[in-house]
Amino acid sequence: MIDILGTGSYLPSKVLTNFDLSKIVDTSDEWITKRTGIRERRVVVEGEEATSDLALHASLKAIEMANIKKEDIDMIIVGTSTPDYQIPACAPILQAKLGLKDIPAFDLNSVCSSFSYGFSVANSILVSGAYKKILLVGADTYSTILNWNDRTSCVIFGDGAGAVILEKSTRDKLLSLELGAYGDDYDMVRIKVGGSKHPITKNPHQYDIADTFFYMEGKRVYEFAITLIPEVIERLLKKSNLKIDDIDLVVLHQANIRIIEMVAKSTDIPLDKFFINIQKIGNTSSGSIPIALDEAVRQGRIKKGSKVLSIGFGGGLSWGGFLLEW
Ligand code: UT7
Repeated sequence: MIDILGTGSYLPSKVLTNFDLSKIVDTSDEWITKRTGIRERRVVVEGEEATSDLALHASLKAIEMANIKKEDIDMIIVGTSTPDYQIPACAPILQAKLGLKDIPAFDLNSVCSSFSYGFSVANSILVSGAYKKILLVGADTYSTILNWNDRTSCVIFGDGAGAVILEKSTRDKLLSLELGAYGDDYDMVRIKVGGSKHPITKNPHQYDIADTFFYMEGKRVYEFAITLIPEVIERLLKKSNLKIDDIDLVVLHQANIRIIEMVAKSTDIPLDKFFINIQKIGNTSSGSIPIALDEAVRQGRIKKGSKVLSIGFGGGLSWGGFLLEW
């Protein structure tokens, strides 16, 4: 029930290589490459670019590919867990930067699954007929929340944004959807201090500064991912009455190359059916899937009629998947 009219993506220009990281924390290019597949990532220069700026560049490219006037957009949804400010949301800032007026603009935070959740929400809104063209963005700047003394997490993430223009379709293009969360494991990916549970406003000095930064229990999230993703693939295929041979491209959240390789192995899907760009951009959280979709379109790996299966997963713990015919 939903058509993708255009895609766009944007990465900040500053490159941070594994060698650069080895000068900041006790790590090595060999460890990062072998354990994650990442060789370099992009990061914003503090004060020069924020999440809304990355979102703006990606959105303009998507609007250009969609060949629409930006004024045709009647809703903006930004999937992010690193908005420019705690308040307001990032989407109204993007609206202003695009020079648009009055249209609804809101954020959606499901950590690394934000874009996938946003896709499902946008689909429902379009199907309802209330809005006609939605700009959906996934954008994050994890370099601004990472603990640069924690080698287990700071080597994984990069900054970036991806955007899509969605429109209600007369043909059934969205073949199946899957959303879910394991709330019991909410603290596996977290920033402990700074929210309403541990407000920094009360007595900032009682808190360890490290608790105001991003923290992830990587190994446990890894186990969650390699168990869950094959199950979600199976459910998406079953719901849409398709077999894996019918799928042209699998676009997983780019969290770790070993997760993609494990999923390929356990599902018997050839690795070359998976889109992989983690080596040059790292894990861009909400940006990961829309950046991958945009790159795949521009490289000709997704064409009109391609069947694309995509799954995002991460903090929450949460996941969201969709299977669509492009
Ligand atoms: O986007 C949200 C979803 N996130 C994910 O999907 C992340 C999933 N998790 C992962 O990708 C992996 O668990 C990590 C990449 C985070 C870590 O890889 P791992 O193979 O699970 O490493 P580990 O945490 O089990 O650590 C193994 C060893 C430890 O040393 P000892 O205790 O065996 O001596 C770590 O201290 O590797 C050490 N280590 C490092 N060494 C060099 C951890 N990080 C590093 C590092 N450089 N950057």
